[in-house]
Amino acid sequence: MIPQSTIRLILETAQIEEVVGEFVQLRKRGSNFVGSCPFHDEKTPSFSVSATKGIYKCFGCGKAGNSVNFIMEHEHYTYPEALRYLAKKYNIPIQEEEPAPEDTEKAGELESLYNVHAFARDYFVKILHETEDGKALALSYLKEREFRPSVIEKFQLGFCLPAWEGFTLHAREKGYNEDILIKSGLSIKKDNRTYDRFRARVIFPIHNLTGRVIGFGGRILTSGQNLPKYVNSPETEIYNKSKVLYGLYFSRSEIASAGNCYLVEGYTDVISLYQAGIRNVVASSGTSLTQDQIRMIRRYAPTITILYDGDEAGLKASFRGIDLILEQGMNVKIVMFPDGEDPDSFVRKNRLSDVEEFLNKERKDFLEFKTAILLKESGGDPVRKATVIREIVQSIALIPDAITRSVYIKECSAKMDVAEQTLINELNKRLREKFRKLIKSEGDTYVPEFRDPLVEQQQEIDITDTEYQEKDIVRIMLLYGDRDIFFENADESGLHKEKIAVNVATFIVDDLVSDGIMIKNPVYVKIFKLFTDYLEENKKPPSFEYFRDHPDIIISKTSADITNTPYEISPHWEDWRRIRTSAEWDRMRELVVNEVLGLKSKRVLMQLENLQKELQGTENEDAQLMILEKIREMKRISIQINDQLSRVITH
Ligand code: CTP
Ligand code: MN
Repeated sequence: MIPQSTIRLILETAQIEEVVGEFVQLRKRGSNFVGSCPFHDEKTPSFSVSATKGIYKCFGCGKAGNSVNFIMEHEHYTYPEALRYLAKKYNIPIQEEEPAPEDTEKAGELESLYNVHAFARDYFVKILHETEDGKALALSYLKEREFRPSVIEKFQLGFCLPAWEGFTLHAREKGYNEDILIKSGLSIKKDNRTYDRFRARVIFPIHNLTGRVIGFGGRILTSGQNLPKYVNSPETEIYNKSKVLYGLYFSRSEIASAGNCYLVEGYTDVISLYQAGIRNVVASSGTSLTQDQIRMIRRYAPTITILYDGDEAGLKASFRGIDLILEQGMNVKIVMFPDGEDPDSFVRKNRLSDVEEFLNKERKDFLEFKTAILLKESGGDPVRKATVIREIVQSIALIPDAITRSVYIKECSAKMDVAEQTLINELNKRLREKFRKLIKSEGDTYVPEFRDPLVEQQQEIDITDTEYQEKDIVRIMLLYGDRDIFFENADESGLHKEKIAVNVATFIVDDLVSDGIMIKNPVYVKIFKLFTDYLEENKKPPSFEYFRDHPDIIISKTSADITNTPYEISPHWEDWRRIRTSAEWDRMRELVVNEVLGLKSKRVLMQLENLQKELQGTENEDAQLMILEKIREMKRISIQINDQLSRVITH
């Protein structure tokens, strides 16, 4: 137990911005800091840290708390674990006390769950190595599978005797009550009998990130008994299957240094690869891969390589996994094993150097993998080929980064022999759908229920930063959205030119959405969304009257207000038809391109400014390098935009 006085000292010493800053890139804004929320996916940072108040709060998902809460939530630590983490960070010595009786029941219950798991693990390990049955039945089995003593020890493998209640009775004798045995899932109560869940099984303990055992998997020794091959612990207060990866406790530093994490299906695959020297490996064992699990890996490496045996079920699972991983902004590679092999069997049959060569040679980019499989399935049928293309573009649309998306679109165009523009159109359709959902789910961000005057004020400042650009873009959409502008498209030879008509609204929406640029002003977002609603249904965009007479008074008023500042003449807004025939329309194409680029350019400059500030604010060399890398990327984009801008102007 950590004494109250020490807890107070830890809480007083821990600086929220330093604690959070270790996991989230924070930018200073007034007396607060903002960043992207680590607990949910978001495009615009709505995670705010108040140094003076010592709290964090996400306006997107509502998560909030102090330093200790943050560490608990982020690292999946218990309260005492989080305190120990902070104490270590700030060099505060902890003199442990005997547990106090007034200890909250909750903390007590969690602790006793951990305790009973640790107790069970020690018991199963002992049974494996020190009993006749353990040695004859289980240890020999593990040896047969070529698991070396060192990894058996490292992964704390054990054995539960075939007797119905060997463990349960032993635990009761040692003072563990029946309640906790049943709650942990180690014992099962049925018809007045309490017996061992894992009887006659080899035990694979499952560890959390601090190395504590939170559950078990138990494998049967012999096949053909009509029993499930594996039995697993049920979910408990300390074991949430969707937030645990088997092996991560042992492999995380290797994952970080390799920059890549191998994802396999089973316990034995993890152990075999680890033993062979490929240590950056985890399994999602027992559940299908979840967003939480992917985010856990993302903390350590940007790439996941899925290793799976090429059966039908594995294939479908890998497709689902690919999309989930792309959605988290990670790279995904896939290795398919020869028929009938899984990573475990393959590693045992081959030398390490051959395995490594195989992994490097066979690993396919997701695009390559998906196209190959789907094209084979479609067997050259053009209609089915169109479905394949749509399916692949759907995956690409999940990637949050616009640059990465365009790289894949180019590659896909070459691979599938389809015009890039066709793919871009399809992509934009998907992005619009996604964008709409995003507005729906993040819409509330603009009306923070947690009213921190400082934060609100600062959000407003942020909005006004590109307010002018946004306003003019929306003004143009309102006035001219339904009219067509023309672009000339030349094929590669440059000989054949065609004129392409795009209406102004579609051009603007597609261009902004495909670069992941969001309008910030909440009222403009509403108007923007009305346009995307129409475009999504392939309808002509609504004309100005639709907005002017809109039942939502904010929309009608704003439409009136912002179109009332025309370029050349200043009529009442009823006279808008005159504006439409004005000189402004004559240069609409240039104007539209210009406005969109202008907004992008401003956003990039803002980001650059923030990065520069961030760079000055950090002394950590790794962080500095990362920021510099981002600055370089931003500058590259900025040059690109300015290049395009100058072309428009001189056109
Ligand atoms: N699994 C499970 N329950 C089952 C079968 C499988 O929970 N009845 C989970 C286990 O986590 C297992 C993983 O799915 O590790 C993969 O299953 P499988 O490939 O069948 O098992 P392996 O781990 O390869 O085990 P072994 O090599 O011993 O056959
Ligand atoms: Mn296997």
